[in-house]
Amino acid sequence: MSKQITKQGYLSKQGHLIKKWKKRWFMISGNILSYYKNENGKLPKGLLPLTEGITVVKTKKRWKKWVIAITIPQKNSFYIAASSEKEQNEWVEAITNTTKRFKGDKVSLEDFKLLSVIGRGTYGKVMLVKKKDTKKVYAMKSLQKGMLADHKQILHTLSERDVLMRVRHPFLVGLHYSFQTTEKLYMALDYAPGGELFTRISEEGKLPQDRAKLYIAEIMLALDHLHKMDVVYRDLKPENVLLDQEGHIKITDFGLVKTDLNKKFGGKTGTFCGTPEYLAPEIILDTPYNEIVDWWSLGILLYEMLTGSPPFYSDDVEEVFEFIIRKKLTVPFYIEDEARDLIEKLLDRNPLTRLGVKGFTQIQNHPFFNGIDWKKVYNREYTPLFIPKIEDITDVGNFDEEFTEEKVEDSLVKVSVIGKVNQDTFDGFTFIGRVDGIGVMNN
Ligand code: ADE
Repeated sequence: MSKQITKQGYLSKQGHLIKKWKKRWFMISGNILSYYKNENGKLPKGLLPLTEGITVVKTKKRWKKWVIAITIPQKNSFYIAASSEKEQNEWVEAITNTTKRFKGDKVSLEDFKLLSVIGRGTYGKVMLVKKKDTKKVYAMKSLQKGMLADHKQILHTLSERDVLMRVRHPFLVGLHYSFQTTEKLYMALDYAPGGELFTRISEEGKLPQDRAKLYIAEIMLALDHLHKMDVVYRDLKPENVLLDQEGHIKITDFGLVKTDLNKKFGGKTGTFCGTPEYLAPEIILDTPYNEIVDWWSLGILLYEMLTGSPPFYSDDVEEVFEFIIRKKLTVPFYIEDEARDLIEKLLDRNPLTRLGVKGFTQIQNHPFFNGIDWKKVYNREYTPLFIPKIEDITDVGNFDEEFTEEKVEDSLVKVSVIGKVNQDTFDGFTFIGRVDGIGVMNN
């Protein structure tokens, strides 16, 4: 069961569990347990690295029944009081998992068996891998540092890692490990064996409205979660929307997200990037934009799901831009009224009147979603109408043969390229595990 706000604490914008106790706020972030004097306290009053060697035990104290004692060798014990046995167990589990994850040994590609290539981008490839000790499978994205020579691309990559590290959401791909060599950066992400929504649309032409509705609702929750973390996704398109083994959505590729909207622009940001057919007019016009651009892309995606192609399309990129800015939107006759109205309101060229500008609930309350229980959506309680055909968890049948027939190997990078890389640029990338196992957002 998922819960975002609990009696004991709440999940912060950054996705960390925070617990309040005796006017102090406790938080696990990375492998650090910190406590703050108050909720907004910038500087933690105390930091406790959850590393090997610490012991976590359940105990009782005069003043509390459910206490967690963390003992660091040669140091004092640290106590957290929980308000129930369940909560006590959750903390013990979270701390133990964190400690295990940060055993000290760095993870490297050696720890994974490479199974298959499943995708390729400009800067590297995505492989299906299995971690040798746990037998868990991941989608390993590798990026050649040399290909990221451009400063902006490096920032994108680091922002991807930073964003992925912080998110934990049922419909967003999560990051489990990240590490690097002199040549490459690696990220072990959730594997979504159902393949891309792009493949579904190309194979099936149009998707039935009920199917599109659940996809759109799940995507909306994922985008809203990113927005609440001050992240504009900006790159919503069917290639980045994947299906997991049950047929639920997993959004991937945060390579273009930009965190911390530049406050100088009054909460708006001015960098141009994205894919032409899904770009909002304000991005094309190079005017400051905000998270409302994602609701435009959602409108384009809904249109493409229901009709089989995006509303503003041409082989000529310049013409696509022209169409997005000026061409009258035509919605085919067979699209039902509620869907048509939602598409028209999301594809409002004026971001100040576009649906969603008054908040996320404005879109949730649109008649297209009448009868939808959003809690059930979040909890994955609606069974998807399409369940991907998957033999086992390592099945790559839903990915393009163009990739899966490729020889799987960690390709060598030319020495001439390695020499050019300034390694300092990638400081801080190595091994970030996630805080798992606490009753925050289990999916
Ligand atoms: N997880 C992250 N990226 C992925 C991809 N391209 N394919 C499958 N699962 C993924």
